[in-house]
Amino acid sequence: MPASTPVKIAVTGAAGQIGYSLLFRIASGAIFGPDRPVELRLLEITPALKALEGVVMELEDCAFDLLSDVQTGDDPAKIFDGVNLALLVGARPRSKGMERGDLLEANGAIFSAQGKALNDHAADDVRVLITGNPANTNALIARHNAPDIPAERFNALTRLDHNRAKAQVAAKAGVAVSDVSHLTIWGNHSATQYPDLYNTLIAGQNAAKVINDQEWLENDFLPTVQKRGAAIIEARGASSAASAANATVEHARDWLLGTPSGDWVSQAVPSDGSYGVPEGLISSFPVTTSGGEYTIVPGLEINEFSRAKIDASVAELAEERDAVKALGLIG
Ligand code: NAD
Ligand code: LMR
Repeated sequence: MPASTPVKIAVTGAAGQIGYSLLFRIASGAIFGPDRPVELRLLEITPALKALEGVVMELEDCAFDLLSDVQTGDDPAKIFDGVNLALLVGARPRSKGMERGDLLEANGAIFSAQGKALNDHAADDVRVLITGNPANTNALIARHNAPDIPAERFNALTRLDHNRAKAQVAAKAGVAVSDVSHLTIWGNHSATQYPDLYNTLIAGQNAAKVINDQEWLENDFLPTVQKRGAAIIEARGASSAASAANATVEHARDWLLGTPSGDWVSQAVPSDGSYGVPEGLISSFPVTTSGGEYTIVPGLEINEFSRAKIDASVAELAEERDAVKALGLIG
């Protein structure tokens, strides 16, 4: 596609909290850079279309040079027509005391319908990133309902967890965030996720060795990152939004434009069986990307502690898969 042709980007749940941050970042060039026009396709449920009108007025009032067009609606077939990137954010957020598993059924119907609509209407090069929770399993449902789109085009968001872990490590080690690299989130975007410090580097040195505090790693770092979403809900009375929008932008940007050289990022992608994760489960891995394709980083050493944590998170993903299978949401 010529560089002057606008990229068509669908955002679902566009009138929601994350949408309110995400749309303005996209329109200002945060995913495709300062030279690439973008066209926004905004999907909402019918009762939220009025609120979405207000958001669109605000987009107009920013007079973004790069924003070539904005279309809104409640019909996925129309909104997804010809889209190159679909950011599936719209879902019911977890409220206080609610477990993510409770959301499986409520969100299953949304993601099967949207998977089908993408299959039938999106552009051939479409990439689909699922932020709406439970993100990994929603991605699995969407993918199963889109048999004509290659499986690897469906990713789920664990970049927020990646960024959260990076910030915690930098604070503990007293270094800049930019000194922390090669961090990996493994598994599910849930409280079982495993942020792996044994392969992380701080200014090129092994992070677990530099920090050298197993008590902190196990009893502070891990639960802080794993339960950060719940802590934000508790404090804000609503789930994370600006940081989730930022992570969605960063995931999409790195997927399509390439990871920084010499480092990797965490993306939940359909497993090819790497690291003992059953094929097909959408699980978080360390990946590098180039030309819009990702590669799972091969050959990392997984110690006994990490193995047990990864296995626990992957077991949760397998349970979620079995639950949605039993509900008839995937074949
Ligand atoms: P929100 O309730 O503010 O907004 C969700 C929007 O989705 C609403 O406007 C709603 O009308 C819309 N929606 C619901 N069903 C829809 C459908 N079928 N089609 C289109 N739109 C639909 O929620 P939010 O705070 O923006 O969060 C959105 C999702 O992102 C939630 O599931 C939340 O748990 C999840 N989340 C994920 C991460 C992550 O790291 N993966 C981080 C934060 C939040
Ligand atoms: C988050 O990680 O902030 C979100 O997924 C919200 C949640 O339910 O934890």
